[in-house]
Amino acid sequence: MDKILLYLLERDDFVSGEEISEKFSISRTAVWKHINNAREIGVEIESVTGKGYRIKKIPNDRIIPEIIYRDLKSLSPEIIYLNEVNSTNDFAKNNINNFKNKDYLIITDNQTKGRGRFEREWKSEKGLDLTFSFIIHPDIEIKSFYHFTIMAALSVFNALKFFIEDFKPLKIKWPNDVYYNFKKICGILSEMIAEEARLKNLIIGVGININSIPSLETAISLKQITNSIHDRHKILVLFLKNFYQYYKIYPQKFDIIFAEWKKNLKNLGEEVSFKYGDELISGKFLDVDREGFVKIDTSEGVKTFYSGEFL
Ligand code: BTN
Repeated sequence: MDKILLYLLERDDFVSGEEISEKFSISRTAVWKHINNAREIGVEIESVTGKGYRIKKIPNDRIIPEIIYRDLKSLSPEIIYLNEVNSTNDFAKNNINNFKNKDYLIITDNQTKGRGRFEREWKSEKGLDLTFSFIIHPDIEIKSFYHFTIMAALSVFNALKFFIEDFKPLKIKWPNDVYYNFKKICGILSEMIAEEARLKNLIIGVGININSIPSLETAISLKQITNSIHDRHKILVLFLKNFYQYYKIYPQKFDIIFAEWKKNLKNLGEEVSFKYGDELISGKFLDVDREGFVKIDTSEGVKTFYSGEFL
């Protein structure tokens, strides 16, 4: 993290080179280097003689971790920004030993080999979408894994809802996709690393289509829904604020979280097609319980599923 960039973002006004140099006990040349580094990554900084430096514009095609730190303050996980990576989930998994002491957020502007559920590919556009993996260490029983995917989906849902005027078509598709009408805007791939039957490291991989025009017919972006370009930092900050709010009250008040998630679930109470392995099940989506079991009323009676996919 660049403390000088963070300071300029926090002050949001002119700050003299002298003040920065004194505050951080660094030379004026070093100050200038920091300013230059920030400019190189696309942050526009004005410099006026007698006044100092002021941030004029932040880039829209590059995530600036300092913006997240500024907006979340002590709530922020440590952010690891990568220009490019095959998959943020793979990066998190392969380096998990370095990410065990606190919460981390691995984020990239260019994910080249994103993974989805059921071995699918996850596509995103460089500098336009959000692709990140959030690493937390809940130390809970493995069976509660599902609760965290619920919290993540609900947090994305709430963050997106904030930017969409007509948010009625926004729904959570069991267990943790977010849809707008019939099109997918967000997918989540949660992976765990358990130790002695406890869930010690949880990687929540989130992909949200923000400013791209997805090539897939079945996908949609926030830009397409709202007809405007969005600042990805704002959506990420809202996601994290929501998630931490739920994490803080978990597990005591999980009922509240669960009820909110269920209220926004797609297709509940409707006739559905459900894919379980190679089997295709048709029936009425009756209910889903706290442990994530889905109940479908089929012609052969009520069936319960823990995994699978609504079509
Ligand atoms: C799905 O819908 O099947 C889940 C998609 C999850 C995509 C995200 S993008 C960031 C993280 N890294 C990955 O490789 N996948 C997840």
